Amino acid sequence: MQAQALDRRDYSAIVTGGAQGIGKAITQALVNAGYFVVIVDADARAAREACGELGGELGADRVHAVVGSAGDDAVIREAVKRAGRLGKGLAAAVANAGVSRFKSLAKLSLKEWNEVLAINLTGGFLLAKHAAPKLARHGGAMVLVASSRALQSEADTLAYSASKGGVVALTHSLAISLGPQIRVNCVSPGWIATDAWQRSDRRRRPQLSAADHAQHPVGRVGVPEDVASLVRYLLSSEAGFITGANFVVDGGMTRKMIYQG
Ligand SMILES: NC(=O)c1ccc[n+]([C@@H]2O[C@H](COP(=O)([O-])OP(=O)(O)OC[C@H]3O[C@@H](n4cnc5c(N)ncnc54)[C@H](O)[C@@H]3O)[C@@H](O)[C@H]2O)c1
Repeated sequence: MQAQALDRRDYSAIVTGGAQGIGKAITQALVNAGYFVVIVDADARAAREACGELGGELGADRVHAVVGSAGDDAVIREAVKRAGRLGKGLAAAVANAGVSRFKSLAKLSLKEWNEVLAINLTGGFLLAKHAAPKLARHGGAMVLVASSRALQSEADTLAYSASKGGVVALTHSLAISLGPQIRVNCVSPGWIATDAWQRSDRRRRPQLSAADHAQHPVGRVGVPEDVASLVRYLLSSEAGFITGANFVVDGGMTRKMIYQG
């Protein structure tokens, strides 16, 4: 089992939004599995810190950063070029960067709608487009990060929910278009407390109540490591028969009936 998990040792990976939160935990999991990782992140300070913190025993040169937006074509091209030069070449790509603007339909502007889609959805398209030729060479894999909000909603999450629904559909479309050379899967997190994985000036213990935890069928709110371990698995050859799928990682929340009384 472990030998297979390490089958990507010394290949490289790209993780967008990899400097904080779930993306940082994914970066850590991939470094631990032996990858070189190129982070694409809009926050220069967080990216610099992540490069310093995540190299681990394998050495600081394991994590590199391209600072810029995951929705910017030139930024993604640059990340793919950098990753292609590291180790044995690019074998994994994770489209994780995401933003939300939770506003009512009346207040959400077209500009805000377009910004959310540009990062959350077009970001995945750009990463697939530019990484695919290199991923294909190494029998690589891609994971896109959607959300349980792709499947159900609270009020006023319009652009975010729509973008994440798009990510789920983009995943199966990419899987069918890029197979059999490249596998493409999606993970849809539920409530994940990312406080401990933020840059140092924002890092803190999650402030969560007993009720926050108890409402989850597994008895707790999620942590970034819950998502990262699944992403690492989906990128490995242990997941060689899985493509086009969406995996909900939400402690069972979307399986609950919500009738009151
Ligand atoms: N945390 C949750 O509860 C949760 C739930 C469902 C889905 N998600 C999804 O997981 C992904 C990561 O979320 P998170 O909670 O870890 O977020 P986060 O805010 O903790 O971290 C996001 C990282 O992405 C970076 N970023 C923001 N805009 C960017 C851009 N345009 N280009 C590149 N980097 C950018 C930020 O600087 C930050 O480092 C997102 O796609 C999010 O929608 C999160």
